[in-house]
Amino acid sequence: MIRHKEPVITIDGASGTGKGTVSQMLATRLGWKFLDSGALYRVLALAAQKHSVAFNNEKALEVLAEHLDVQFIARENKLPLIILEGEDVTETIRTESIGNAASIIAALPAVRASLLSRQRSFRETPGLVADGRDMGTVVFPDAELKIFLTASPEERALRRYNQLKERGISVSLGDLIKELRERDRRDQERSVAPLKPAEDAVMIDTDRLTIEEVVDRILSELEGNAVKKAFPATASQTMFDCAGVGVAE
Ligand code: DC
Repeated sequence: MIRHKEPVITIDGASGTGKGTVSQMLATRLGWKFLDSGALYRVLALAAQKHSVAFNNEKALEVLAEHLDVQFIARENKLPLIILEGEDVTETIRTESIGNAASIIAALPAVRASLLSRQRSFRETPGLVADGRDMGTVVFPDAELKIFLTASPEERALRRYNQLKERGISVSLGDLIKELRERDRRDQERSVAPLKPAEDAVMIDTDRLTIEEVVDRILSELEGNAVKKAFPATASQTMFDCAGVGVAE
């Protein structure tokens, strides 16, 4: 029997492209589930720190990933609450140092492999919005719609700067740009599942767009896909032909 698979929209891109907020808003608008895969890597980095596992100890990290006691509890209009070993780590995992550690351990093939089935288990009815780096290329290659978000490093650093300022954390904008470039390089150059758009991804440059505009654009892509499915092959050609017949008459 062929198992029907729930639809997935993948949202990939570098950090600071607005992926998290866009994905969460999209999931809310559609009433779908939401996977923040970066949070999984961040939680694993935090667990490694907590259990004194070195960030280059691939074998120990693999075991830690397999036994990771983490829960994601959905909340309305907010990123999910994240509980690691009974402790609320929702805010703790958002620091720059945990982000960098996550990027380091995410380059290890065994770590990625051991988090694969956990990520796929988020695919539930009525559908899933999955946010990350390799959602469209590796984790959900059969996704209904694949989006790849881009933004200039300066814009991304500025967004991050404002986010941190809002939380009362002061950092230098120059340092943030430097760190972002370093993290991008590591995420793009790693041998497994590097950050790159899937061949069939829709690219959206978010530099001059608001979050709402990006979400609307994705929803219209989804609608476009539904129309293409309902009228396979040459939907627009068929409509054009019909119009042509009308004119000729
Ligand atoms: O999206 P984020 O900034 O929370 O992700 C933290 C790090 O985790 C990021 O630098 C790279 C890694 N990551 C990954 O390799 N693959 C994913 N699907 C998600 C995140």
